Amino acid sequence: MFARIIGTGGYLPEKCVTNKDLESVVETSDEWIFTRTGIRQRHIAADGQLTSDLALVASQRALESAGIDAKDLDLIIVATTTPDMVFPSTACILQQKLGAGACPAFDMQAVCSGFVYALATAEKFIKTGSAKRALVVGAETLSRIVDWKDRTTCVLFGDGAGAVVLEASEETGILSSVLKADGNYLPLLNVPGQVRHGAVEGTPFIHMDGQGVFKFAVRSLGEVGEEALAQQGIDKTELDWLIPHQANARIIEATAKKLGMPMERVVMTVERQGNTSAASVPLAIDEAAREGKLKRGDLVMLEGIGGGFAWGAILLRW
Ligand code: UT7
Repeated sequence: MFARIIGTGGYLPEKCVTNKDLESVVETSDEWIFTRTGIRQRHIAADGQLTSDLALVASQRALESAGIDAKDLDLIIVATTTPDMVFPSTACILQQKLGAGACPAFDMQAVCSGFVYALATAEKFIKTGSAKRALVVGAETLSRIVDWKDRTTCVLFGDGAGAVVLEASEETGILSSVLKADGNYLPLLNVPGQVRHGAVEGTPFIHMDGQGVFKFAVRSLGEVGEEALAQQGIDKTELDWLIPHQANARIIEATAKKLGMPMERVVMTVERQGNTSAASVPLAIDEAAREGKLKRGDLVMLEGIGGGFAWGAILLRW
């Protein structure tokens, strides 16, 4: 039994902020941002638009493309670092907004690798027979935890949501998944603020050692991809598509090189979306699927990495 993606959806908030726009917010330039990151613009959620609102539209589109009703779902997982509230989970809020039945619903917190973690988890539910149809979402309003006075981080992130419907299939689907984490890297990437006694203690903004993250990402994404292939005894030359976390075009290019993938076989959205954390991989899957790039039987590698550090790779047949 496999877990196969049968529908995809994505949603980007209406407001689009270009690098040029940011030149009047912090001391930066379109040239600096584009050459260092490959980003030209990002979308930002409207005031009052919550992570679950973005997740709702992406999920409705995924359900529509799968041709199933929310009531048919027997599992909902939302990967997010920017939940609507401390509790309940954004997955429960989404479940209510979707009008889904009383299936299990929970959030996955693995920051930018959250979608890869969530998809690997949903696959286990399907493989063990605990679920037949799962909705797996990556949704973020990162703009709310970015310090808009800090040029080293605010230019990098964006908001959005992507979703897939996974279904039990006897034919094909997810072949292998490799998940990793190492909490020793906490100092390189974190949001240390804590809600305590009615106030936030510590900074509630993203703190990042950009170069430290960069070096670790390039090394670990290459390795974890190789491991997912080795589990199946598949050579990297057989890969049709690489769909990596979209943080920085230079990280993606270095990872693709390690896997021997030409850039025309790598799905890239970072230029138009920035880093949408847990939403970046499902948004890229949705774009590639809707553009007709992904053909039945194609061998696809998904990769994610982020705070924790937590990272992982999933190998699947489309
Ligand atoms: O999802 C995972 C999360 N994060 C990542 O994947 C990020 C990984 N890291 C990166 O993408 C890169 O390290 C960055 C894009 C964040 C930074 O690029 P870099 O080539 O490592 O630049 P840097 O941090 O070494 O900074 C170089 C210079 C510095 O000036 P000085 O000290 O050389 O005078 C920075 O102050 O660029 C300056 N700088 C900027 N200049 C204009 C930093 N941010 C900006 C900015 N505009 N926005």
